[in-house]
Amino acid sequence: MPLRSLSEEEFIGRNPELTSLYNSASEAQQGRATSMFLSGPTGIGKTELLKQLFSRLFWQQNKVVPFFYTINPFFNSLRDFSADYLNKFIRQWLAFQKKDISIIQTNELSLERLKRCAEKSDAHWAVDIIGNFHETMISGNEIDLFFSAINVPELRYQNTGIPVIVIIDNFHKTKNLYGSHAEHSKNVWKLFEEPIKSRHTPHIITGNRGELQDMFFQQTSLGEVMELFEISELDKSNSLQLFTSLCESHNITVDAKGVILPFVDLFNSNPFYIKNFIQTARHAGKTLSWDNLWEVYFNEISSGKFHTFWLSRFKKNILRLDLRKVILEILYHLCSNGTPNTAAALARMFAVSTEDLNDIMNFFQETGIIEMNFSIFNIVQDRVLTDVIKVLYHKEVLGKALSTIEDELITDGYKKDLYKYVKTEERPLFEVTIPVIPKAELIAVNALEQIAKDQHIAAELIQQLNIALIDLFISIKPRKDKLYSGNFFLKFEHLEDTFTIDVKTPYKELISSTSIDALSENQLLRRYTDDIKIEETKNGIHITLIKKLKRDLLSAS
Ligand SMILES: Nc1ncnc2c1ncn2[C@@H]1O[C@H](COP(=O)(O)OP(=O)(O)OP(=O)(O)O)[C@@H](O)[C@H]1O
Ligand SMILES: [Mg+2]
Repeated sequence: MPLRSLSEEEFIGRNPELTSLYNSASEAQQGRATSMFLSGPTGIGKTELLKQLFSRLFWQQNKVVPFFYTINPFFNSLRDFSADYLNKFIRQWLAFQKKDISIIQTNELSLERLKRCAEKSDAHWAVDIIGNFHETMISGNEIDLFFSAINVPELRYQNTGIPVIVIIDNFHKTKNLYGSHAEHSKNVWKLFEEPIKSRHTPHIITGNRGELQDMFFQQTSLGEVMELFEISELDKSNSLQLFTSLCESHNITVDAKGVILPFVDLFNSNPFYIKNFIQTARHAGKTLSWDNLWEVYFNEISSGKFHTFWLSRFKKNILRLDLRKVILEILYHLCSNGTPNTAAALARMFAVSTEDLNDIMNFFQETGIIEMNFSIFNIVQDRVLTDVIKVLYHKEVLGKALSTIEDELITDGYKKDLYKYVKTEERPLFEVTIPVIPKAELIAVNALEQIAKDQHIAAELIQQLNIALIDLFISIKPRKDKLYSGNFFLKFEHLEDTFTIDVKTPYKELISSTSIDALSENQLLRRYTDDIKIEETKNGIHITLIKKLKRDLLSAS
């Protein structure tokens, strides 16, 4: 793959989006393509989708050239940025034509080397472009240089009739591009307007949703000429698939499948959260229980990756230290569905000056954690984010200990509210009540046969369980000299890799030759089961026979 991206099997549930984007190639050929603003919450998979698009365009067709560019915030001059843009464009074009990815996968950025590479490929057009670029560079006009670089896909189309799909990730970072005379070259990114309008070299642009909305709809009217392509969360079944396939690839088993569901909901089917959660969870053990998973989750939101991820965004965007506390208070207020939620009312409620309010609004805009309707705010639908805010608020504003916060949020909150997922998880479980009568064992064995067959337990295992159950009943028969009323309670349970039989007697005395100790020594029971548990209850004895189901002995259904 030209860019480091997931394999086709690892990339889950985005085929409709990928196909729809791929179709822009044929639109570009017909000269009726429109540039797109690919918008979606953090971590939803925008970058990955575009990498997959690039790969598909690179390998599966020959008519439209794909160009993928990620804006790097570390360029400190327009010249460097422009040279890099040109370099990558030419290399990707040559690589595409020769289907040779080694041309792209180089760290070589000098124009001299690029020229040599073009000469080697007999790409005279590229040599000319590099020559012109070099001249503009010498003449010193950075803005012209910048424009010539970002316009080169269109120029190529005009000279060759070959369309280009320009894919730009992290476009919001173009805001930080300045020339050496900052005052003249501020907002140089707006020069993208012309290339973006091209019908043969459509630009598919993504990046931070909040900042791009501001750039395309407030600062310019570019949004009007672009198609808005909204990426929503993966659907439930795809998220589950992602969750389980990641567990498998990390060799993790989860106690019961049902416990995954609340986490898929919690992560709002966001691949970034799912992936990172499982990467952390794998350190907690190979088999994870409901409790383990919540422990991992709390660590993630209080000190782990989720916490660090959001905290670094907050810090980056709240430059004024004095505003951090009040912003946290406002965010907590919004997380708790508090009203009011208009700017002016919030400012009054939290005693914020008009000047501070402006800075706060900028913060909201840039982090994209607030959805601004016409006049009211709402925090975005992201449970992880709201939990990070809750933990921060309880810790930093209310001064609570992390253990207290964990008790409130997890033990008394999520775990209680979501317990139904663990409880109602479908486990095949059958209960049978048999009166204490002679030959009760025959009824028990009959029931076992039926249930085990329905559960597709292998015949060989059923036979062994039958012998064990009959022998158990013989051992727990009531004393002949006593009359007993009451019932045996039997429970058969089929778990993923075990079959268990629970038997409860309504009396404690066993036939004279058998004591509880003798029961646990019973050779037949030992031979035909993998584990036996025996305990006295208030009114009787509770015996559990456990049989392991080896995969190869599970009969085919
Ligand atoms: N459909 C998918 N199947 C499997 N993994 C995915 C899928 N989409 C994204 N991922 C993985 O999830 C993580 C987050 O995806 P990505 O970086 O593309 O999100 P993003 O929307 O670009 O986030 P940001 O807004 O922060 O740039 C990455 O590790 C990516 O490989
Ligand atoms: Mg991204």
